[in-house]
Amino acid sequence: MTNKKTEDAVPRHVAIVMDGNGRWAKARFLPRLMGHHRGVESARKVIRACSNVGVECLTLFAFSSENWKRPEEEVSGLMSLFMTALERESTALFRHNVRMRFIGHTSGFSASLQEKIQQVEALTASCTGMTLLIAANYGGRWDILQAVSTVAQKIADGELVADSLDETAFGQLLATAGLPDPDLFIRTGGEKRISNFLLWQLAYAELYFTDVLWPEFDEDCLQKAFRDFANRQRRFGMTGEQVSGGKHA
Ligand code: IPE
Ligand code: IPE
Ligand code: MG
Repeated sequence: MTNKKTEDAVPRHVAIVMDGNGRWAKARFLPRLMGHHRGVESARKVIRACSNVGVECLTLFAFSSENWKRPEEEVSGLMSLFMTALERESTALFRHNVRMRFIGHTSGFSASLQEKIQQVEALTASCTGMTLLIAANYGGRWDILQAVSTVAQKIADGELVADSLDETAFGQLLATAGLPDPDLFIRTGGEKRISNFLLWQLAYAELYFTDVLWPEFDEDCLQKAFRDFANRQRRFGMTGEQVSGGKHA
């Protein structure tokens, strides 16, 4: 094991719960949807900043499987916002060589939104820069369950022997297959919970919580989170001495 290298300062995979849009709007006597509109601006800035510093993968939690419980007006406003954001941003993402992928139960969306999602994924499929994962109609429990149900089917079909299943093979059945687990989890908006985000994948992520509301989160806030991350010692179950190569960390 070596000491922390400079390149470790930039997480390979950043996963963000973009929270606080509603409260941002409420504090300004604006409708909640205005907060979501501003939230798209923050997402754009953060995507650009992450791509510029060499983050390999950025996962943004855009809509949870529980967010359907919100008032009808907010849900439909969010759906049209996703549609317009995808229409507006897809070519810019392509130009920045960003590959966009959706994780979640996207068949729960309208046919037109599903079609747009497929178009953007196809457009950016050959991009070799950062992978941008949008978690939409995503739930960590849903993800684990759909993987378990694939396992059950494979066993029933005689394609898999139960004993041979290990963590790596199981990980390949999750929505994030092929991507490294998140190194840094960021939640804006002050709440300190995971809210059914990437439950399996966050096992060893460094957790970073900030009171900054998502519409106010910018490059400086991101840099601050990265600096905090760079000062963490990730031990993965080992001792500090083992990780720092015998020296005290
Ligand atoms: C997060 O902001 C965005 C979505 C869940 C779509 P919120 O809308 O949850 O904002 P608050 O938590 O009410 O402030
Ligand atoms: C989590 O935020 C989901 C997204 C950011 C899309 P919520 O605002 O829905 O989380 P809870 O309900 O406060 O836990
Ligand atoms: Mg919230």
